[in-house]
Amino acid sequence: KRIVVLISGSGSNLQALLDCASAGQLGGEVVAVISNKAEAYGLERARLAGAATAVVANGDYPDREAFDAALMDIIDGYQPDLVALAGFMRILTPGFVRHYQGRMLNIHPSLLPKYQGLHTHRRAIEAGDGEHGASVHFVTEELDGGPVILQARVPIFEGDDEAQVAARVLVQEHAIYPLVTRWFCEGRLAMQDGKAWLDGH
Ligand code: GRF
Repeated sequence: KRIVVLISGSGSNLQALLDCASAGQLGGEVVAVISNKAEAYGLERARLAGAATAVVANGDYPDREAFDAALMDIIDGYQPDLVALAGFMRILTPGFVRHYQGRMLNIHPSLLPKYQGLHTHRRAIEAGDGEHGASVHFVTEELDGGPVILQARVPIFEGDDEAQVAARVLVQEHAIYPLVTRWFCEGRLAMQDGKAWLDGH
């Protein structure tokens, strides 16, 4: 299976996918990595792994529609079976999301439906939550609102700061994102009637 990964930053989740692929455990290949930030370190990770890279910069387009149209053109040039958002920090238009419906995944650093959007770790700490985590979900038009496929939980300990919690969650992200991607590549996972369907579970 052909996977295109979209990033905006460090790309540690991308790295987890690349490592899994190079170990022959992903059931697919990361054919291209596209960033909306030219300085994203994830682009370097992609180059080191031999994947194609592209930058679609926010500032080069007059509006969201134009940006998304350019992004879609580049993605579709790689004929992906799956588009994986991995720290891609940009809201996508409904038309874009519909185009990849059922074949676009995202990883979000919270136990959805809690804490959609930004600053999830800070919000979990401030709420006094004893647990927190990450979710892999299909992308739908509702931001961070698509059907959840798999979650990982971590504790929040007394006195933890945002960075400690973020690091603890990130370790789990690196475990669950490749796993769900593999399920998708193996044809064991799909979205049907707006729900996640997982074979044999
Ligand atoms: C991750 O926490 C991801 O869940 C969130 O942004 C962060 C990206 O980290 N959406 P990285 O770029 O994969 O290291």
